[in-house]
Amino acid sequence: MRHAYVHGYDGPESVRLQDQARTLEELLHADTRYPPGSSVLEAGCGVGAQTVALAANSPGARITAVDISFASLGQARSRVAAAGLVNVCFQQGDVFALPFADASFDHAFVCFVLEHLRQPEAALAELKRVLRPGGSITAIEGDHGSAYFHPDSEAARAAIGCLVDLQRAAGGDALIGRRLYPLLADAGFEGMLVSPRMVYVDASKPELVDGFIRKTFSAMVAGVRAPAVAAGITTAERFAAGVAALHRTAAPGGTFCYTFFKATGFKATGRNA
Ligand SMILES: C[S@@+](CC[C@H](N)C(=O)[O-])C[C@H]1O[C@@H](n2cnc3c(N)ncnc32)[C@H](O)[C@@H]1O
Repeated sequence: MRHAYVHGYDGPESVRLQDQARTLEELLHADTRYPPGSSVLEAGCGVGAQTVALAANSPGARITAVDISFASLGQARSRVAAAGLVNVCFQQGDVFALPFADASFDHAFVCFVLEHLRQPEAALAELKRVLRPGGSITAIEGDHGSAYFHPDSEAARAAIGCLVDLQRAAGGDALIGRRLYPLLADAGFEGMLVSPRMVYVDASKPELVDGFIRKTFSAMVAGVRAPAVAAGITTAERFAAGVAALHRTAAPGGTFCYTFFKATGFKATGRNA
């Protein structure tokens, strides 16, 4: 299935995506502002976790948020309305076959979606199709290979490895952050700039200890316990030990590092656009 999604669509995952977006908003969104009157496509908006930040930060831009999941779109619509934002419209659509004419948008934004796709190159090519020449793309992804922490733990690294393996088996790539530059280049974008955004957490940042270590990263790993055990790549005990070790990095004396990658690029204005 092209849109196999390793984290699922249930309630805890929706809460995790909200926690993640709130915690990371400054780090990931501070330098994304779209001019008044511009049209922006957010592909794979999910439950609207990034949509709220996008729309609030660029109140004059018209944002079209698309997702393949009708249920997620419903939640996103409610969230955006609750935030009092009126510059977003929602549409169900597949990032591999977007329901828009060529050159429909000034900007495209995609966050935590490419990592789940079997063919991220094809999705980027489709996003390029609906961008006008000279239009920009912004892609944000994590890279689970960038997670390191204290106290270090082989069990924790193995639990993270289960997530990477499951995502790979579903056709995705949990290590995609490091590939954003070549992916955009292969899709024919120009002027790419990739900016690594490191989250470093220790006890002096209690909001990140809770919002990032516990509620975002550890919650994400813990979320694949059942499929990892079912796939036979771990045991319930070993996986639980890994998650417990991740939680220990949130205790006093623990530290945690993770790097997101934010890439921007442009659709060429010339003949080969
Ligand atoms: C991890 S969620 C990220 C949601 C949101 N961008 C965020 O950062 O919170 C990935 C989203 O991609 C959507 N998705 C997966 N495959 C898709 C496809 N082929 N077309 C459109 N959306 C897709 C899923 O439904 C899911 O909502």
